[in-house]
Amino acid sequence: MTFPLIAPSVLAADFANLQRDVEMLNVSEADWIHIDIMDGMFVPNISFGLPVTAAINKHAKKPLDVHLMIVQPERYLAAFREAGAEILTVHYEACPHLHRTIQQIKDLGAQAGVALNPHTPVSVLEDVIADLDLVLIMSVNPGFGGQKFIERTYERVRQAAALIEKEGSKAVIEIDGGVNQGNAPLLYHAGAKALVAGSFVFNAQDPIQTISNLKKVW
Ligand code: DX5
Ligand code: ZN
Repeated sequence: MTFPLIAPSVLAADFANLQRDVEMLNVSEADWIHIDIMDGMFVPNISFGLPVTAAINKHAKKPLDVHLMIVQPERYLAAFREAGAEILTVHYEACPHLHRTIQQIKDLGAQAGVALNPHTPVSVLEDVIADLDLVLIMSVNPGFGGQKFIERTYERVRQAAALIEKEGSKAVIEIDGGVNQGNAPLLYHAGAKALVAGSFVFNAQDPIQTISNLKKVW
């Protein structure tokens, strides 16, 4: 496993050719397949849900990294695990009982992630970070692909890396939104070990080469 892990988001794939696009990811250097679930409640957009996730899983040869941008995510954890999720990430802002929700994910045998919106201080994770496998720092406001990267993210990555170190956590920092060849090396050197990329990969002339380039951050 070489860092940074690259997690292309199928939100930017061609939904009428999902099998083709998933097979492209299978032969690429992508590490995970990022699945964006939006409910039109937590975020102002609706993407897709369980049947599409299960259909992707049927063809995917890489772990599904499921990002739940939904209210009350605890109601759907078991169903997404069943649909093939290897990593289940919930939003801090959607979970009044976050500690319990994290334990539910672990009890399902999945890796547990928590996502933070751009305005949410990293420090809110202090008391759960030791239990996490993944911290997802949003570098755009969730809801849409193709948005502009928020520059404050670098500082937030450094804060998360310091918190992980202080609490002896094994959590991987993942960045989501507006990732491209320009900011990927800077994010990696700030401490991000996983990078989500949607439009940058799928709008590229050569997505396989683009994924390969994203892994080369030195
Ligand atoms: C945004 C999603 C992202 C999105 C990223 O709410 O969580 O995963 O697909 O898309 P790009 O890389 O185009 O910003
Ligand atoms: Zn996402």
